[in-house]
Amino acid sequence: APERTLVLVKPDGVRRGLVGEVLRRVEAKGYVLVALEMRTADRDLLGAHYTEHAGKPFFEPLVDFMASGPVVAAVVEGHRVIEGFRSLAGATDPTTAAPGTLRGDLGRDWGERVVQNLVHGSDSPESASREIGLWFPGLS
Ligand code: CMP
Repeated sequence: APERTLVLVKPDGVRRGLVGEVLRRVEAKGYVLVALEMRTADRDLLGAHYTEHAGKPFFEPLVDFMASGPVVAAVVEGHRVIEGFRSLAGATDPTTAAPGTLRGDLGRDWGERVVQNLVHGSDSPESASREIGLWFPGLS
């Protein structure tokens, strides 16, 4: 069965009008959107989503940032899509992310307490399944 991942266009990406660009690259790569929603996430959802970062110095700024406006959440499907979307996204730090990637082409370091790096993509099959369950509880 094809793999699924959770993609988020973070509030900085939505504010900057880059939703279409992110989804365009996902679709151009040949991946399929199987669920799509815009919403402002509450802190409970974000705390659960980022549970592995609880206690880290950037955790509170990260939750504040992610709750600061609407995000676009998508479930994306395709062979090896978890690895493939992370390749499209590029490295976490937008200053050093490779050109050609979303973060490398479109992101920069804004000097904020948390890295505002446009997109999120699940990092493993276990994370993908957990995150998809959190954001799209009704999806089969
Ligand atoms: P994401 O892939 O969504 O997962 C955790 C997020 O925390 C990450 O993207 C960045 O936005 C942010 N982040 C990760 N590491 C740091 C760091 N060292 N300092 C600030 N923010 C970070």
